[in-house]
Amino acid sequence: MRRRDFIKGTAAAGASTLIPVGTLSALLASCAKASAGKGWDFDAVHDRSGTWSIKYGRATDGEIPMWIADMDMKTDPFVAEALRMRLDRDVLGYTSIPAEFYDVIHAWQKRYHGFDLDREWIGYAPGVITGINQAYLTFTEPGDKVIIQPPVYDHFRLYIERMGRVAVDNPLIFKDGGYQMDFDGLEKLFDDKTKILLLCNPQNPCGILWDRETLATLAEICDRHGVMVISDEIHGDLALYGKKHTPFCSVSETAKRVGVMFAGPTKAFNLAGLSGTAYSIIPDKEKRDKYNGTLRNSKLDEPSIMTLVAQIAAYREDTAWLESLKRYIENNIAIVERFFSDHDLGIVPIRPQASFLVWLDCRALGLSQTELMDLFRKKAKIIPSNGTSYGPGGEGFVRLNIGCPAPVLNEALNRLLSAF
Ligand SMILES: Cc1ncc(COP(=O)(O)O)c(C=O)c1O
Repeated sequence: MRRRDFIKGTAAAGASTLIPVGTLSALLASCAKASAGKGWDFDAVHDRSGTWSIKYGRATDGEIPMWIADMDMKTDPFVAEALRMRLDRDVLGYTSIPAEFYDVIHAWQKRYHGFDLDREWIGYAPGVITGINQAYLTFTEPGDKVIIQPPVYDHFRLYIERMGRVAVDNPLIFKDGGYQMDFDGLEKLFDDKTKILLLCNPQNPCGILWDRETLATLAEICDRHGVMVISDEIHGDLALYGKKHTPFCSVSETAKRVGVMFAGPTKAFNLAGLSGTAYSIIPDKEKRDKYNGTLRNSKLDEPSIMTLVAQIAAYREDTAWLESLKRYIENNIAIVERFFSDHDLGIVPIRPQASFLVWLDCRALGLSQTELMDLFRKKAKIIPSNGTSYGPGGEGFVRLNIGCPAPVLNEALNRLLSAF
């Protein structure tokens, strides 16, 4: 089927001469044909200059930006084709969320993560952080406390504070090269003001896939203290090495009662610029109704057409592109590991179990954090994320975004070697 046919529909399609874009089978069939044989080349270097990229906006003087978590690769050609096809219709009016949005997320969670959830639990989220912020408005008052487990994604603390709530740290324990939650420490933190524990699952920046037992224990502890768990699962579709991501609400009945999940294809399909490719999963009806009410009252429940098309196209059944991307990321991680084992620089990469961010333990260098960042940025001309931005436990670390073509990664590592 040519792209024009998708726009106009076919006489055989019946009553309408236009295939509704929300008709999943029509969208998928058309895109499959249009993107067939296009393939993908993750090694290709794409010029992002002049695209208003936040990542490249910070890079000057030929620096390689390896900080903010988007990838330099093109999105799945199928998703790009779906967006182009929708745009070909030219009319960009108000859009409602089609049934297919819920259908594909429901099927995806079951097929990809083994989470057999009720379709009604799914809702739209205007971005993961925006969704979490709406949850603060729904479930907490200014001055209430939200527990986080650093080192953790810097926007956790940032938006807790911007929303007028108080971030309370329950740092992870780093032991034998791996991270654990500190449950004893957690038990001591609860008080009347503590309303939410904000979980990063998988954990950014350290790439941890939390296991079922850990999540179930966390749910029990929080339930005992009447605290809700908000689980940010934006990196969940990028579990590596054949491992599985465990959705928080799937681990127990208690987790279903206390849990509110936010996820989306944003990271796995590199869709961050579409802003808002996200969704919520809230099993508890009372919480769900309240959260959805807040979204509605702020008119945040009307996603853009492009956001919807991208999400629906991304979560189709054929995951060949995504699997191929994951193998490429694993290969990039191998390049990093080989480099630091071949060159004894005093830097140890912590292997991520999910996503394209490598947490580098640079403590053996004995540098101050400023000196460490200068080494990477001023001497090597590459821009990692500063470990201290992730809170306690980030001192002596940097986070390297390796979601880039391998030639770029090799160039960055060579620059680092020269800097030494
Ligand atoms: C853990 C985590 N949550 C949320 C986000 C941002 O999500 P969104 O752009 O949907 O707000 C990021 C982006 O890096 C992230 O790493």
